[in-house]
Amino acid sequence: MLVHFLTDEPTKIPAIRAILGPEHDIAAQVLGTVSTSAISHGVLMIDADLRKPAPVEQLKIVLGDLRDVSDKLFVVQKHLHHMVAQAFALGATSVVSRPKEIVTKLAEIEVAQKAAQAAAQAGSANASPEMTHSAAVFGSMFTAIRDGRPFKLADAEAATSEIINGIERNGLSPWLNDVRRYHEGTFQHCLLVTGIAVGFAMAIKFSAADIKRLGLAATLHDIGKARIPLQILDKPGRLDPDEEKVMRTHPVIGYDILKAQQEFSEEILDGVRHHHEYLDGTGYPDGLSAPQISDLVRLLTISDIYAALIEARPYRAPMTGPAAYKILEGMQGKLEGSLVKAFRKVALAA
Ligand SMILES: [Fe+2]
Ligand SMILES: [Fe+2]
Repeated sequence: MLVHFLTDEPTKIPAIRAILGPEHDIAAQVLGTVSTSAISHGVLMIDADLRKPAPVEQLKIVLGDLRDVSDKLFVVQKHLHHMVAQAFALGATSVVSRPKEIVTKLAEIEVAQKAAQAAAQAGSANASPEMTHSAAVFGSMFTAIRDGRPFKLADAEAATSEIINGIERNGLSPWLNDVRRYHEGTFQHCLLVTGIAVGFAMAIKFSAADIKRLGLAATLHDIGKARIPLQILDKPGRLDPDEEKVMRTHPVIGYDILKAQQEFSEEILDGVRHHHEYLDGTGYPDGLSAPQISDLVRLLTISDIYAALIEARPYRAPMTGPAAYKILEGMQGKLEGSLVKAFRKVALAA
């Protein structure tokens, strides 16, 4: 495959050639000396120090011209949360850290590109620009929170609207496939929950305004995870009880961040704080029971659990839609039964 390699450090060029070997063609350029020619095929790989302002600024300019490249692979140090978030803010579709991971990811992209070409020839939809843009907004929000800066409500609303438009145009299933193909970890989860919540709201014939309200709550629901240490957030295994305790602080962290910004409605704050509450009072952080849990939160919780089940986790394979739905059905007493029933067609169609 043709790899367009962009770096801030010339010594990284022979290193990447050694890692990739002769089966990939590499077109390497050093940032700042780049004349951005159009890239029509292959993959764009970027290895630059995203902690420094200069390469980030240069990349913003270069990537502005390369907005339409479908696969943008960033080489990052995954333990540096800021770097990962910055990569997604710049439009990364995947991040990798170790050489072995780079090779595996390229092989995956090659397979996916061939499948996309075949699908395009067969007339089906291509990867959506809405997804890449929405993911970039998620990246920016996470970076801002990490740096203690406010982010714009308008950006979160615009990302939500793009997701709604994409699903309206192509349906939920292509959206979910796109997200799972291109993104991982927390970003994948946030994009999936938003897509599922929007698809759910459409299936139960919500008004356009209500679809937006639920979509925005879903976009922001896990924003508190931006402050959870990455070794817990991306741990390649199940969390131990102490780590679980830290993880469970994310709804209150998210609530506090949004509350401090003073521009988010009570309803959004409620969704962010209470999406892990259950009707029988066994949820967290406040142990609410049914009368205290709003309809919006009930919908959000179902979308959130379902998304988590159909995601790949390092310690388990993703579940199919029907298998994940069975789990929701088994959570009687915790989730609103009539909504779980209404969710059936969303789960089985996804
Ligand atoms: Fe959550
Ligand atoms: Fe979540």
